[in-house]
Amino acid sequence: MQWATTTLAVCGLGAAALATSMLTLGRRLELSQAKHRSLAGHARMARRLAGFVPFYDYDEERFFASDGAPADIADLRRTGFARLSELYKTRFAETISRSAEAAEAISDLQFTGAYRVPFQYRRVVRAHLPLGAFLQSSDGVTVTDLDGNRFYDLTGSYGVNVFGYDFYKGTIERGAARVHELGPVLGAYHPLIIENTRRIKEISGLDEVSFHMSGTEAVMQAVRLARYHTRRSHLVRFCGAYHGWWGDVQPGIGNPLPTHETYTLAEMSEDTLHVLRTRRDIACVLVNPEQGLHPNAPAPTDSSLLDSTRSSHFDKAAYTEWLKRLRQVCSERNIVLIFDEVFVGFRLAPGGAQEYFGVRADLVTYGKTIGGGLPIGVVCGRKDLMKRFRDDRPADICFARGTFNAHPYVMAAMNEFLRLFQTPDVQALYRDLDAVWDGRAQRLNRRLADEGLPVQVANMSALWVVCYTQPSRYNWMLQYYLRAQGVALSWVGTARLIFSLNYTDADFDAVADRFVAAAKAMQQDGWWWHDPATTNRTIRRAIMKEMIAHRLFSRRKH
Ligand SMILES: Cc1ncc(COP(=O)(O)O)c(C=O)c1O
Repeated sequence: MQWATTTLAVCGLGAAALATSMLTLGRRLELSQAKHRSLAGHARMARRLAGFVPFYDYDEERFFASDGAPADIADLRRTGFARLSELYKTRFAETISRSAEAAEAISDLQFTGAYRVPFQYRRVVRAHLPLGAFLQSSDGVTVTDLDGNRFYDLTGSYGVNVFGYDFYKGTIERGAARVHELGPVLGAYHPLIIENTRRIKEISGLDEVSFHMSGTEAVMQAVRLARYHTRRSHLVRFCGAYHGWWGDVQPGIGNPLPTHETYTLAEMSEDTLHVLRTRRDIACVLVNPEQGLHPNAPAPTDSSLLDSTRSSHFDKAAYTEWLKRLRQVCSERNIVLIFDEVFVGFRLAPGGAQEYFGVRADLVTYGKTIGGGLPIGVVCGRKDLMKRFRDDRPADICFARGTFNAHPYVMAAMNEFLRLFQTPDVQALYRDLDAVWDGRAQRLNRRLADEGLPVQVANMSALWVVCYTQPSRYNWMLQYYLRAQGVALSWVGTARLIFSLNYTDADFDAVADRFVAAAKAMQQDGWWWHDPATTNRTIRRAIMKEMIAHRLFSRRKH
């Protein structure tokens, strides 16, 4: 009898254990299904594979014919390249020489210098098309280098520059004068912070505000608060979305350690909604609304532009619908919905992405432009979520302090920014914003198509991506032709063009002329020669073969 009872108990326990492991397995499977099929959707695998990519590069002969171009085309490219090189070395002489000197001791310059073109082409490009990292002045929509060359600025200073550099020169200068008497005293606040807080609450529609030093820190704090209040461990970020360089939001390539409390899920996906509806460990969902321009993909830098698969298309209605559904699930499951507006805040609408898409978040992060030109990160949120301690548990706190938080000079520049931002003149800028920028993008695309150039642009308002319409290994060369035409690009090249809103039609037309001229020159120099048998797939296969061959070869050597 005793034996039978024991057996029954063991069987019962076994069945329960089996049921639990089946459930766990089922949940794991659901998580896998909710990952985007691309490599960017599989952070761990991407990190592992990245470790296998061997370095190799092309000699000068292969550099000009890596796509199998015939000798006459390779010669055309060689001549065009030499002409461009001569132009760079003479026109940008001082800027290049000072930058090369500085790069020896500035690690950031070494990094950006190395990642402008695919690594196979890097050596030849760096030897003949060196780039300068210095500017001496800015004015209107232009910047000027140390040699006195003026460029139309499409870097947007990483997104800080929404209203034009002169606007920020004013906010910094007037702001500094207003807090001069207090100076850089930290810990205590300058009273300007009261007005800043009121204005940010008005703009965000949320209850409380905290100030940090960068967008990365603001995101860190928002996630930490979500974890603290929900008592859950995991954050959900979407495939391809950037949220700064803090480890938990960068689980893939670029982070030396794997992350354990981040789920990277597919955006605009039913499977993702199912995971949010059913898992119990999710504290928050981070949305970077910029992803509406290329859901599930990062803005691919020119350093990875080895074929023409970069694609972009902003469907505002579809993305709005997705955000609404996300909002609903988060509300049902008490998951904190965080809009990371560090980049798009103040760009799309006066009330930011929340207004633009008609969806309210629980926490919103701002950064970049809201500092009036100085370094900043801001978290806004519902009162209950912003609280950093518990009344009934004095030792249970959510710590977040920073030496430079709410620095008087930053608060003052921010104050100038917010005051100007809320004036009717600046608010009027947003009235037909999308129509203006959509119209400009369409005009440029028509011109490019009429000229038979294999380039098109996609845009979300004044944020643009350059896409390539015919398979090619050399699209990354366009950035050098653009710079030669007097267009300033950031280190990601043609992956992201950021226009400030003070671009007039005439300014824009000047950029469009230069864009078309650059693409024409590139075409005339033979870079877009195209073998009809070449597809993006054949390009990728060929590169994969090269990598495998180099991997095997270097193994044999050791
Ligand atoms: C959406 C988003 N979040 C966070 C960050 C990080 O901001 P910061 O560079 O100020 O740390 C960025 C920076 O580009 C961003 O675009």
